[in-house]
Amino acid sequence: MDIMELLRTKRTYRRFDQSRPIPPEALADMMEAARLASSAGNLQPLRYLAVQSPELTEAVFPYTYWAAALTDEVGRPKEGRHPVMYWAVLCEKDSKNASIRVDAGLAMDNIITAAWYHGIGSCMMGNIDRDKIREILKIDPSLEILYMIAFGYPAHTSTVVSPDETGSLKYSMDAQENFFVPKREIKDLIQIL
Ligand SMILES: Cc1cc2nc3c(=O)[nH]c(=O)nc-3n(C[C@H](O)[C@H](O)[C@H](O)COP(=O)(O)O)c2cc1C
Repeated sequence: MDIMELLRTKRTYRRFDQSRPIPPEALADMMEAARLASSAGNLQPLRYLAVQSPELTEAVFPYTYWAAALTDEVGRPKEGRHPVMYWAVLCEKDSKNASIRVDAGLAMDNIITAAWYHGIGSCMMGNIDRDKIREILKIDPSLEILYMIAFGYPAHTSTVVSPDETGSLKYSMDAQENFFVPKREIKDLIQIL
């Protein structure tokens, strides 16, 4: 895939083909992508938990919140469209590392890019019930969940559009559950001196 085409299509996906698990070769690339991510001071403070057992992914699902712009009721994937894998992005509790969320962002982008290279879509998730998920996944109390990432083969498209005349950046979903994501125009974003 051409790099700019990859960046155009590497969107957030929120409905998945629940009958298709993540193949081992894709998981191997996602793990290597996590390992290779840049890290402030090269401290590599993050740890990950990759969850693919259907019992656990289904147990986690109710504690993840989807598409706030649409209301959870509309945004939440229906039965048969749930993620087939989650990754928990973890760090030491009360970490003093000022760059921890930059590291997490870079690592998540590496991981979702490797997944997308294999045609696997994802949704990074900050709107999650951390206490419940920690309990379900038996995460060590010394670790904190920064984010979850949901994965699966997409069951919809997502298209970048220009903001409408009101300038709203609110994404939308049509009757086929395809997403449309407004992105600001370059002229409104970047100045060249
Ligand atoms: C740090 C972060 C946290 C996010 N948390 C959630 C979330 O909890 N639930 C959700 O449905 N989407 C979540 N998203 C996805 C954003 O809503 C999405 O990136 C945005 O709508 C733009 O769409 P795009 O990723 O296709 O460009 C999150 C994205 C980021 C970067």
